[in-house]
Amino acid sequence: MANVKIAPSVLASDFGRLADEIRAVDAAGCDWIHLDVMDGHFVPNLTFGPPIIQAVRHATDKPFDAHLMVSNPDRLLVEYAKAGCNLITVHAEVCDHLDRTLAQIRDLGCRAGVSLNPHMPEDCLRYVLDRLDLVLVMSVNPGFGGQSFLPTVIDKIARINQLLDGRVVDIEVDGGITPETAPLVVEAGATALVAGSAVFKGGNEEAYRKNIEAIRASVASL
Ligand code: DX5
Ligand code: ZN
Repeated sequence: MANVKIAPSVLASDFGRLADEIRAVDAAGCDWIHLDVMDGHFVPNLTFGPPIIQAVRHATDKPFDAHLMVSNPDRLLVEYAKAGCNLITVHAEVCDHLDRTLAQIRDLGCRAGVSLNPHMPEDCLRYVLDRLDLVLVMSVNPGFGGQSFLPTVIDKIARINQLLDGRVVDIEVDGGITPETAPLVVEAGATALVAGSAVFKGGNEEAYRKNIEAIRASVASL
């Protein structure tokens, strides 16, 4: 599965040098930049929003993959698109009108994603399949980096893959991804992998390159 996308989560990077860190993972060979937006409400932690995303947009040409862990994603969709996000993912748990939200994201010229917390069944995707570009399967409870992978998501990924029935929709998995866990989710049907701690450990471009290569190598033969 040579074409699995690797999306380093900048949550594990040095925020004091965010633009440089993005340049470094870009040079190290990542595919997307995963941006964990947290509001201190949907999740206990707080990170950043559109102004900071816009401020670092110049650091790479690679797609910005925004993961909105916020209670009211609809309020700021336009701002995320203007800030330069290419993929915008909302959590199914907070969208009363998921069909409309996904249509809005595409109308803004972005690819539309839905994320599911570990407890969330995949059935909520059934009637929005044709509005989807990406499903972001949480393999930890969102809010913090460095948590352990929850193996219960492996079956869920396989069921989502069946539900998609050949549609061109990425299945991205987020949380606890390492060279040990990556093969488990790719075998089940994942096409994109978020990795924070496993990519940013080592703290420099050379380490990031080795870390990204180790994840790619772990799924290369699948
Ligand atoms: C968790 C975030 C993840 C997180 C992953 O709320 O959505 O993107 O940064 O971090 P690791 O790879 O360290 O589990
Ligand atoms: Zn994330």
